[in-house]
Amino acid sequence: MLPTQSGGPGAFAQFDLNRVPTPCYVVDEEKIRSNLEILRDIGDRSGARVLLALKAFSMWSLAGLIEEYLDGCCASGVWEARLAREKNFVPPKKEKVLSTFSPAFRKEEIEEVCSLSDHLIFNSPKSFGVEHARKAGVSCGLRINPELSLGLDPKYDPCAENSRLGYPLDNLKKEDLSQFDGLHFHTLCEQNFDPLMQTWLKVEKRLGDILENFKWINLGGGHHCTREDYDRDGLLNLISKITDKYKVQVYLEPGEAVALDGGILVGEVLDVMEVTKNHILLDLSATCHAPDVIEAPYRPSLMGECKGGKYEYMLGGSSCLTADSFGCYRLNQKLQRGDRVAFLDQAHYTMVKTNTFNGVALPSIALWNSKTDELFITKQFDYEEFVNRLS
Ligand SMILES: Cc1ncc(COP(=O)(O)O)c(C=O)c1O
Repeated sequence: MLPTQSGGPGAFAQFDLNRVPTPCYVVDEEKIRSNLEILRDIGDRSGARVLLALKAFSMWSLAGLIEEYLDGCCASGVWEARLAREKNFVPPKKEKVLSTFSPAFRKEEIEEVCSLSDHLIFNSPKSFGVEHARKAGVSCGLRINPELSLGLDPKYDPCAENSRLGYPLDNLKKEDLSQFDGLHFHTLCEQNFDPLMQTWLKVEKRLGDILENFKWINLGGGHHCTREDYDRDGLLNLISKITDKYKVQVYLEPGEAVALDGGILVGEVLDVMEVTKNHILLDLSATCHAPDVIEAPYRPSLMGECKGGKYEYMLGGSSCLTADSFGCYRLNQKLQRGDRVAFLDQAHYTMVKTNTFNGVALPSIALWNSKTDELFITKQFDYEEFVNRLS
């Protein structure tokens, strides 16, 4: 079981959960802004260009805010690249960058992906599309696998044995690199600075003599640099050293760090089943609304939970999956039908991963501003959403 990375409710402690329909993600614009301010500061002080990884957080009603602070986005394929352009996460300004990486590209999409992207990152020197992208004038990069596992769960470790993500560093022939402007590695997941440093030292040891041939080096995502205990000075020093020594542009592409503690998932107690273990039946579903709870797995923090609390509840989801449960929680107040609950840190890797298994309703999406207390329900889904994905 992975630990939750939530730093607590923050301003959401003041949010009245009855103000939104359930189920609902509520995102605090001010918290996202404060994360973006930290990331902008990292960019300004180190010279790095910071991109949002859309796979983690694609809330396009905040595209304007994100564009105000960051240097662009990274996309996982043609649809995210299209979203980045159409929703103006990355407007066509010279200084903004859209960087796309996919382990492999389809023949039918390579032209469109080239027309949308400034950087195209390939999984191997012989990947389909390299020639096409070079001819189209797109800046091409190679994703390498530094083959250094640093204590991660193998499920979230692109350096795990037999990983398909990135070209293994030890197999790399330096002559294969001549066709690339950039080098990319993404090996971290919710980590502090030290594993990045260790990974960089390995890459530098192996490729140090040719690093100055590149225009850019992309250090991927997984840097939890908006977390309070993150060693930002370490990161700033490393980026400045890389830039000075090799005269390359450094890129970072965090996802989680942009949205960390930026949202909650609000649900309602539909019923209490006291026969077994005080099961609470919610209109939320872990498997549909927060799939990482089951996939990782991890136990999300609950607003108001209390270690020594008087009441113990199993908070269960509304699908038929036996494992559709958020976990066991202690509270000081008794829960009853109609009560609202909220899980913390639910903005990233949630609304991008929802599904309608069992015909469970998709959560609405609300934008709240903790400074002004303004609230907008930006999206509500209905039956059509469910039926239109089937035939
Ligand atoms: C290539 C790549 N870049 C960036 C990210 C963003 O990582 P995170 O959200 O952990 O910062 C991911 C996440 O899987 C990724 O695969």
